[in-house]
Amino acid sequence: MGVNTYSLSLLLSLSMGTISLSQVITSDTYFYGQSPPVYPSPEGTGSGNWESAYQKARSFVGKLTVEEKLNFTAGTYVNNGCSGNIPPVERLGFPGFCVSDAGNGLRGTDYVSSWPSGLHVGASWNKDLAKQRGIQMGAEFRRKGVNVLLGPVVGPLGRIAEGGRNWEGFADDPYLSGALVQPTIEGVQTSSVGTCVKHYIGNEQETNRNPWTNDQGVTVEAVSSNIDDKTMHELYLWPFQNAVLAGSASVMCSYQRVNNSYGCQNSKTLNGLLKTELGFQGYVMTDWGAQHAGIAAANAGLDMVMPSSDMWGDNLTIAINNGSMEASRLDDMVTRILATWYQMHQDESFPHPGIGMPSDINAPHQKVMGKSADSKNILFQGAIEGHVLLKNTNNALPLQSPSLVSVFGYDAQGSDHLEVAIDGVSKGTALQNSTLYVAGGSGANSAAYVDSPIDAIQRQAYADGTSVMWNFYSQDPAVDPTSDVCLVLVNSYSTEGSDRPGLTDDYSDTLITNVASKCSNTVVIVHNAGIRIVDDWVENENITAVMFAHLPGQDTGRSLVALLYGHANPSGRLPYSVAKSPSDYGSLLQPSQPEGEYQLFPQSDFTEGQFIDYRAFDASDITPRYEFGFGLSYTTFEYSSLQLQKTNKPALQYPPTADIVEGGNPHLWDELMTVTATVQNTGSVDGNEVAQLYLGIPNGPIRQLRGFDKVTIASGKSETVNFSLTRRDLSSWDVNAQEWALQEGEYEVYVGQSSRNLPLHSTFTL
Ligand SMILES: *[C@@H]1O[C@H](CO)[C@@H](O)[C@H](O)[C@H]1NC(C)=O
Ligand SMILES: *[C@@H]1O[C@H](CO)[C@@H](O)[C@H](O)[C@H]1NC(C)=O
Ligand SMILES: *[C@@H]1O[C@H](CO)[C@@H](O)[C@H](O)[C@H]1NC(C)=O
Ligand SMILES: *[C@@H]1O[C@H](CO)[C@@H](O)[C@H](O)[C@H]1NC(C)=O
Ligand SMILES: *[C@@H]1O[C@H](CO)[C@@H](O)[C@H](O)[C@H]1NC(C)=O
Ligand SMILES: *[C@@H]1O[C@H](CO)[C@@H](O)[C@H](O)[C@H]1NC(C)=O
Ligand SMILES: *[C@@H]1O[C@H](CO)[C@@H](O)[C@H](O)[C@H]1NC(C)=O
Repeated sequence: MGVNTYSLSLLLSLSMGTISLSQVITSDTYFYGQSPPVYPSPEGTGSGNWESAYQKARSFVGKLTVEEKLNFTAGTYVNNGCSGNIPPVERLGFPGFCVSDAGNGLRGTDYVSSWPSGLHVGASWNKDLAKQRGIQMGAEFRRKGVNVLLGPVVGPLGRIAEGGRNWEGFADDPYLSGALVQPTIEGVQTSSVGTCVKHYIGNEQETNRNPWTNDQGVTVEAVSSNIDDKTMHELYLWPFQNAVLAGSASVMCSYQRVNNSYGCQNSKTLNGLLKTELGFQGYVMTDWGAQHAGIAAANAGLDMVMPSSDMWGDNLTIAINNGSMEASRLDDMVTRILATWYQMHQDESFPHPGIGMPSDINAPHQKVMGKSADSKNILFQGAIEGHVLLKNTNNALPLQSPSLVSVFGYDAQGSDHLEVAIDGVSKGTALQNSTLYVAGGSGANSAAYVDSPIDAIQRQAYADGTSVMWNFYSQDPAVDPTSDVCLVLVNSYSTEGSDRPGLTDDYSDTLITNVASKCSNTVVIVHNAGIRIVDDWVENENITAVMFAHLPGQDTGRSLVALLYGHANPSGRLPYSVAKSPSDYGSLLQPSQPEGEYQLFPQSDFTEGQFIDYRAFDASDITPRYEFGFGLSYTTFEYSSLQLQKTNKPALQYPPTADIVEGGNPHLWDELMTVTATVQNTGSVDGNEVAQLYLGIPNGPIRQLRGFDKVTIASGKSETVNFSLTRRDLSSWDVNAQEWALQEGEYEVYVGQSSRNLPLHSTFTL
C-alpha cells in the first residue's frame, strides 16, 4: 500500500471525525421521495380460494359499528400469556383472537414442544419434513387457543453474517428459503392456525433496528435498508412471494426503514409490492411497537397495530370524517382480518382464544395439553436432519462400540433451571453453561423436556457397556489417554435485539485445541445459531470429525447420539457458506453503523445487489472453508444421466397477462422445463442425498440454487432425482418492464452435491 492511499484514508477518517454539526442531516425531509408513493391501498379482492371467506367477512363487517371496527385494528391488553390479543365482539359471537410467538414453537407456556429452529429446518433441505413440522406445530398452537403463529421467518435472509436473527430464518438463499417457507405455512394453516410471515422487509440487522435517543437527547432513527428494485425482487421479496402463494394469513411489517420510510408505513412495499404485485389477501400486522405514523400508516397499507396503538383508535374516525382517510380503508382492514379468521375455519370450531396461555405458569391455571404423541417422530426426525457433518477422517464416525468415551465442554450438559426451557437460553454471550437447543429472544420456544447430549450419551453407554468420563467446566481438562474418542461440545449463541459479537469465540476454540492436543481422536460438535468459523482448529489432524448441530430443539441429545453411532446417517447440508476467515464476508460481515452526515439517520446501502453469501464468494472467487450446500454422509453418491426436457408451455419473454391472484401472476408458476438425473448410492450404508440444481441465468450470478430433491437411496441402488423449473426460476426481474423476464442467451445448468461440487453440467437456450 502506497503512502498516498494511507494519507487519503487518514484524511477521510479525520474529516469524518471532525464533521461539523451543520453537515449532519437533522431532518427527515432530506429523504422524502426515496421510496415512491403507491396509493390508494388496494382492497382485498377475495380472489382464488378466498372467495367464500371474503363473502362471510364482508357480511360480518356490514353488521359492525365504527367503534367495533376500530377494535380489530389494534391489540388490547388481556390478562393472558398471548403476545397480542384482538378483543371480542360478543353481541355478534366473535370471540376475539390470540396471537403468539413464534415460528419455532410456542414460547412462555407449558405442555408444548421445542421444535428445531428455522436454520435447522434450512439445513435439513427437506420440504416434506418442513410441512409435517408445520402441521404438528400448528396443532400445538391450536390446542393452546393461539389463532395466529408469529412466524415463520424469511427476513432476515442472512445478508449480514453476524446478523442476530439469521437462525430464525431458513437459509441465506431466497430459493431454499422460499421452498421451505411454503410447506411450513401450508402445514401450520392445515391445522387451522394462521401464520404471520415476517419481517417484511429488508430487516437484515438488529443493530439500530429501532429509533433511540442518544446521549445528547437527539433521536437516532432506525436504520434504513436501501434496496434497489431488482435486488428486492430477486432476493428479499422472493421467499415472501412463496409465503403469499402459500396463503399466509398475515405478514408482519418490520422495525427498520426501507429507502428511509418505516417498514410499517411504506406504501411502496405494502400497497405496491405486497398488495398489488403479489395480490396478498390477508392483513399486515406491525412488529411489536413498530408503528411510527397514524393515518399515513393506514393509507400506506398497514391493517393492524400490535400490541396496541396510541395513534389509531378514534383518530381513524376523525380522519374519515375530515377526509384524510377513506371509510373504505377501515372496512378493508377489518375485512382482511376477518377473512383470514374464516379462511382458517376458526369460526367453525376453535378453542377459546388464549385458553392454554396463562399469564403466569407458576400461578393456578387450567391444564391445557398442547403437545401430542403424534409429533414424536417429526420432532426426532427434524432434529436429526438439521445436523451437518463437515469433516470425518480416519473413519472416526460413526462410533463403533467404543470402550471409553470422554466428553468435554459446557454445551454437553442440560440446564439447571426451568426458565432456560421457558424463555430459551437467556445469557448474552457465545459462552453458555448448558446445551444450546434454541437461541434467544421472541423466537425461543418452550420445551416439554430437554434431552441433553450427556444424558443421551449415558443412555447409549448403558446399552453398550461403555465407560464415560466428563468434564464440563475446565478449559484444559485432563484426558484419559486410553479414550477411544473425545467429544467436545461447544456452541455459538445468538439472540434477538443484537447482532452476534463474532463468528468465533476464544474460550471454545482454546478448549477444542486443548483437548485435541491430548486426544488423537477428537470429535467437535458445535450447536451454532448461525455461521461459525472453524479455521483455528479444523485442519488439526487430531480433530477427526466436526459436526454443526445447529438448534435441534428438545430432542437434541438423542438425535446427536443417533448420528454419532450411525443409527441415522447424516443428511443435513449447509444453508449458508462458512468462510475461512471472517474478513471473507467483507462489508457483509457486520451490521451498518450510523456514521458521518448520516449519524442521526443510519443507512444500510444494499449496493452488493444479489451478491450475498455464495453468490458473493463465487463472484469474487473466494474459496470458502465449507461451501453452501455442503455436508457429508456415511455413504457416497455418484451422479449421472443429466436430462433436460422443455414442457409445452410457451417460453414468451414475459409471463402472459392474467388476473393477479395470491402469489402474483399465476403464470410465474408455469413449469417450463424439467430436469432429471440419476444418483447412485455407491457406499455400504443406506443414506439420504440432497441433489442440488444450480442455474447460471444469462446476465446473472454464476450460479443460483433453483432446485433440490432430497431422496433416500439404499446402498448400491440408484434413484432418479427430479427438478421442476418454473417461469420465475428461469427469469430475472426486468426493472423497466416491471416483469419477470426470460433471458436470451445460453443458460448453464449444474447438478450435484453442493454449490461447488457439481459433476453434471449442460446448457440450453429458451
Ligand atoms: C428504493 O429505491 C430504489 C432506487 O431508487 C428503487 O429502485 C426501489 O424501487 C425503491 N424501493 C422502495 C421499496 O422504495
Ligand atoms: C373494544 O374493546 C374493548 C376491550 O379492549 C372493550 O372494552 C370495548 O367495549 C370494545 N368496544 C366495542 C365498541 O365493542
Ligand atoms: C390520537 O392521536 C393523538 C396524537 O398522536 C394521540 O395523542 C391520541 O392518544 C390518539 N387518540 C386515540 C384515541 O388513539
Ligand atoms: C384529520 O384527522 C387526523 C386524525 O386526527 C389528523 O391527523 C389530521 O391532521 C386531520 N386532517 C385535517 C385536514 O384536519
Ligand atoms: C459454569 O458453571 C460453573 C459451575 O457452576 C462455573 O464455575 C462457571 O463459571 C460457569 N461458567 C460460565 C461461563 O458461566
Ligand atoms: C495429537 O494427540 C497426541 C496425543 O494423542 C499428541 O501427542 C499430539 O501432540 C497431538 N497433535 C496435535 C496437533 O495436537
Ligand atoms: C422422478 O420422476 C421419475 C419419473 O417420473 C419417477 O419414476 C421417480 O420416482 C421420481 N423420483 C422422485 C425422487 O420423486
